Amino acid sequence: MSRFLHKQNISSSSSSKKLVFFISITTLLSVAVIANCLWFSSSSIIKTTTTYWALQKKGIIHTNATKLNHLQSKKESVISPTFADLDAPDLPWEIMPEAPVPRLDGASVQINNLLYVFAGYASLDHVHSHVDVFNFTDNKWTERFDMPKEMAHSHLGVVTDGNRYIYVVSGQYGPQCRAPIARSFVLDTETKKWSTMIPLPFPRYAPATQIWRGRLHVMGGSKENRHTPGLDHWSIAVKDGKVLEKQWRNEVPIPRGGPHRACVVFNDRLFVIGGQEGDFMAKPGSPIFKCSRRHEVVYDDVYMLDDEMKWKTLPPMPKPNSHIECAWVIVNNSIIITGGTTEKHPLTKRMILVGEVFQFHLDSLTWSVIGKLPYRVKTTLAGFWNGYLYFTSGQRDRGPDNPQPRKVIGDMWRTKLSL
Ligand SMILES: *[C@@H]1O[C@H](CO)[C@@H](O)[C@H](O)[C@H]1NC(C)=O
Ligand SMILES: *[C@@H]1O[C@H](CO)[C@@H](O)[C@H](O)[C@H]1NC(C)=O
Ligand SMILES: *[C@@H]1O[C@H](CO)[C@@H](O)[C@H](O)[C@H]1NC(C)=O
Repeated sequence: MSRFLHKQNISSSSSSKKLVFFISITTLLSVAVIANCLWFSSSSIIKTTTTYWALQKKGIIHTNATKLNHLQSKKESVISPTFADLDAPDLPWEIMPEAPVPRLDGASVQINNLLYVFAGYASLDHVHSHVDVFNFTDNKWTERFDMPKEMAHSHLGVVTDGNRYIYVVSGQYGPQCRAPIARSFVLDTETKKWSTMIPLPFPRYAPATQIWRGRLHVMGGSKENRHTPGLDHWSIAVKDGKVLEKQWRNEVPIPRGGPHRACVVFNDRLFVIGGQEGDFMAKPGSPIFKCSRRHEVVYDDVYMLDDEMKWKTLPPMPKPNSHIECAWVIVNNSIIITGGTTEKHPLTKRMILVGEVFQFHLDSLTWSVIGKLPYRVKTTLAGFWNGYLYFTSGQRDRGPDNPQPRKVIGDMWRTKLSL
């Protein structure tokens, strides 16, 4: 396939009503455009019928107003593909043993010195159905065991009690853009035995999942069609790998639904960070549920639940960020987030990956950018052990000057953190 960019010469200085109307219509058309562009494929054809300015006016993209005015005043039509990168110090990254398989949209949880890495796509047509275990003490991938056949293969809601049990909720069953299922499971990491648990009330794709005050909370995600954001929030009492109630309880819905957010419990408060609305969907009528790209909006939102059981809005991330559900760790009263994916490029509409490490200070509720990753990468699986921040897996960029997604990786890296 050839790659091209068709730009329309709309003068941003014109203010005629007709033009504004035209831009609004083309904006709506372009955001609704279905580009058959796989995220694994290296080429795509997307017609750009809007200007950066038009998208910005519609509130579809958010950007630095100073930069934008500067661009407009120069009537510049080219925006660097790397314009979304933030200034950040380099960190001394050290290569660690590569994961046994590459994975995208897999999941992970850390229990003490072990990182359990689940499922994920190897390629769009192949999904994993096993768990790999990394031992932080000797820095080796030590073990591999199967997941139940009935369990979903990507976009799982995964959480641990921090001790022994891992709850795996819902997720997408099968490759390409198949629908999510409601089936849910519990893993006893000591015996490596799986048991089934009561399914979610409805299937969800990449829901935010955490254990808080003795209850397993599941919220957001996308609905069955993979695209429509779910706002529902459910919880159920759990203890030592057992579910203590007969049904899920309805909880206060989250202010914004959608998949791929970080969900963190710290100091008796629950945080939901970033994420997106919309995602790839199966092409209608495709027997293999072939993925086709749809409109997505990535958010920088941070929401918190505390005693009051009312969602509070906290200061946003330094930039919109999604695909971070397992990309976080808690270190010294702060949440560290590695990589992700941000809003698409305003002109080329191409996806832009994130190459920064963010820190959210939980005492001051402020954000900082504390460093750069070796490359931009999304759906990283992060861990923290003995002063080192680790990450593995995901999908990395095409190079320093090209933030679009390319290779699905199993690489593992670590860096000594000093906050
Ligand atoms: C916005 O961009 C301008 C020019 O590049 C820069 O001086 C300014 O610090 C930026 N502001 C923010 C909030 O990033
Ligand atoms: C992790 O590595 C340490 C050091 O080699 C070893 O003592 C421990 O048994 C390992 N744990 C597992 C579960 O393999
Ligand atoms: C966390 O805080 C402790 C105590 O102040 C300090 O020794 C340690 O270096 C900090 N960890 C990081 C990663 O900065």
